[in-house]
Amino acid sequence: MNMEAHLQPVVLEAKGLRKVFRSGTREIEVLRGTDLELREGETLSIQGESGSGKSTLLNLLAGIEQPEEGEVFWKGTSLAGIPERQRPGRRAAYLGFVFQAFYLIPELDTLENVAFAARVAGHSPRRARTRAKELLGELGMAERLHSRPDQLSGGERQRTAIARALVNEPSVVLADEPTGNLDEATAERVIEQLFAVSGARRTAFLLVTHNSSFAGRAERRLHLTSGRLH
Ligand SMILES: Nc1ncnc2c1ncn2[C@@H]1O[C@H](COP(=O)(O)OP(=O)(O)OP(=O)(O)O)[C@@H](O)[C@H]1O
Ligand SMILES: [Mg+2]
Repeated sequence: MNMEAHLQPVVLEAKGLRKVFRSGTREIEVLRGTDLELREGETLSIQGESGSGKSTLLNLLAGIEQPEEGEVFWKGTSLAGIPERQRPGRRAAYLGFVFQAFYLIPELDTLENVAFAARVAGHSPRRARTRAKELLGELGMAERLHSRPDQLSGGERQRTAIARALVNEPSVVLADEPTGNLDEATAERVIEQLFAVSGARRTAFLLVTHNSSFAGRAERRLHLTSGRLH
């Protein structure tokens, strides 16, 4: 990380996260006091073995799941202090999430999938569509605005998911193995676009990937082992 990055304000922070899953009598302690700090505009990659808890960590950071212990702060505000019913709107405005599985809405076309996320963040239908169209254009999807997910290729679905994550110009983008199901050339292009589009907007970007070369493009690299980031 360069000196300048060090002076930027922290936009996402986790302190002492502990997460345990129980199945029957078995307990798995996935996270054991995980700490994390992400600064404005910073890029960070996280690698770790399958099952080490990377997706679990992202879910906690996004407030989709709750930790047993520890706290997550969005721009200094403890997630625990945000009332349940305010969370979806706050999350949509603050954070974009590119999931390991894309989770596009099958009944909606590309444009509607992206515009929907802007609606959740409180934008008017017109504004939402305009923003969605701009971003999809930047990602090379202008010709696919009215295709539904089942009519798209894997790479096109992934780019739609990326547009959805970026449409509200969030402070933070979390991407969980966003190129998992793509061929090498498409994966390369998608990663390039993720870094370019978030870089242009000074979005802090956290990339979870198994690919060392993609991980190496981030300013800072961490590994999740034994429930902690190193
Ligand atoms: N809802 C759940 N109930 C029980 N166990 C779970 C649940 N979610 C995750 N786990 C377990 O927690 C561990 C961490 O899972 P997680 O999905 O975070 O791993 P990961 O690092 O993202 O792996 P991958 O690289 O394969 O995506 C795994 O052992 C998994 O089986
Ligand atoms: Mg995972």
